[in-house]
Amino acid sequence: MQKAEQQELFKQIMGNYPTGVTIVTTTDENGKPVGLTVNSFASVSLDPLMLLWSIDHRVSSLKAFTEGGKFAVHVLAGEQQELCKTFASKVEDRFSGCDWSLSENGLPILDGAFGVFECKTFKAIEAGDHTVLIGEVIDLQVTPEKDPMLYHRRVFGPIPEEFYTPKQPVL
Ligand SMILES: Cc1cc2nc3c(=O)[nH]c(=O)nc-3n(C[C@H](O)[C@H](O)[C@H](O)COP(=O)(O)O)c2cc1C
Repeated sequence: MQKAEQQELFKQIMGNYPTGVTIVTTTDENGKPVGLTVNSFASVSLDPLMLLWSIDHRVSSLKAFTEGGKFAVHVLAGEQQELCKTFASKVEDRFSGCDWSLSENGLPILDGAFGVFECKTFKAIEAGDHTVLIGEVIDLQVTPEKDPMLYHRRVFGPIPEEFYTPKQPVL
């Protein structure tokens, strides 16, 4: 099979793989908050708590994430579609239209997420056209009355009702 054909199949399979959606934030060298929408997020380790995500080398805030040493991962709630779109867009100041604050760890935290992980970078691994960032969790919070967002075939939104019938316990 030709490389281009393999890449098409790869995108087809990955694009059909359902995920949640996160927004990852940090500050750049001037202290300006930066962030992007990310679905390459995954759990890595329970002891110590570790997670990962990967960043495309073309992303404008690449340096802030690979050299900044820390980042915050927001697991979006179902109703945060506008935020998801803004942080996936080319909008220069993505933070001006939303409520956020700086945490004790100096990370920009967006209001309204289902869950937030604040991390220090454990390792940054170059992998093809992306860098995989592994973070060690230094702080975390959850809003259990919210439900996370679902992403499938470029559509994102709340988890459909039938997934909650009967409502399964989280653990
Ligand atoms: C659902 C979704 C998931 C995404 N996941 C990633 C990802 O895991 N890594 C990444 O680098 N970009 C990802 N992107 C693209 C970035 O959000 C987008 O390229 C970024 O906002 C562009 O930032 P820039 O304008 O600062 O370069 C995703 C976009 C969407 C809509």
